Amino acid sequence: MQTVHTIAQLRATVDQWRGRRERVAFVPTMGNLHEGHLHLVKRAARAADRVVVSIFVNPTQFTEGEDFGTYPRTLKQDSLKLAESGVHLLFAPEASELYPFGAEHTTQVLVPGLSDILCGASRPGHFAGVATVVAKLFNAVRPHVAVFGEKDYQQLLVVRRMVADLCLPIEIIGLPTVREPDGLALSSRNGYLSTEERARAPGLYRALRWAGEVLVTAKRDYQALCAQASEMLVEGGLRPDYVSIRRADDLAEPQAADSRLIILAAAWLGQTRLIDNLPVTLKNPE
Ligand code: PAF
Repeated sequence: MQTVHTIAQLRATVDQWRGRRERVAFVPTMGNLHEGHLHLVKRAARAADRVVVSIFVNPTQFTEGEDFGTYPRTLKQDSLKLAESGVHLLFAPEASELYPFGAEHTTQVLVPGLSDILCGASRPGHFAGVATVVAKLFNAVRPHVAVFGEKDYQQLLVVRRMVADLCLPIEIIGLPTVREPDGLALSSRNGYLSTEERARAPGLYRALRWAGEVLVTAKRDYQALCAQASEMLVEGGLRPDYVSIRRADDLAEPQAADSRLIILAAAWLGQTRLIDNLPVTLKNPE
């Protein structure tokens, strides 16, 4: 596996591949890699001849008071995992490479509507940071296809919308969340949890599954259902940020006839904010 730190080195290699008409798949990450990331890498390898992974802890997607300074930076271990997974190129730029005029002064990519709700309401500016860095990475890598996890469902939709709006010739693949045996979604931030918090953490997915079952079998009062799921979170020792049922395609408030829904939730355990979601298809929408 080749490791490069500059866009010029990255382009030199990708240009060679493209010159030979090889397809390039891309998995953007912030490092501290776990099985969920490696799952994305495996899917990328099936989609193309060459796999590029980026590791970059992007400052512009962290809001005031968040964990940018303490986010785990584990490049050496990550690099070994990627090499073992058959990745062809690791792009690990410094911030100055992606933000030549400084992160605070960067040109921004904004995806209105989708960016301001749910996680975007609690983390103002977060999705502008994500859309901006993903656009920069797409321009630097020039992949044919890019793979994202559905755990960050809102991020996946923001990226899809950006790609469509900017007419980027990139196919976006979303992959289902990889979970621990007790249901907890894999996340780099799970490492922040104390033993006691870790024991409580699967309560987030339990509440989603409960809401999902009620939704498909009986109840269509979405607000009441979300309030009950929030109550379950509180009883399980989590501090809910939100629980919301939305249309899966665009995160709009669902109408009675909508069948493809998604239940999304965010909750705090101590200083750690966890997110998760559950897609639900209604067989007999009203
Ligand atoms: O999902 C992530 O790890 C990040 O938000 C991403 C897509 C790599 C952008 O920094």
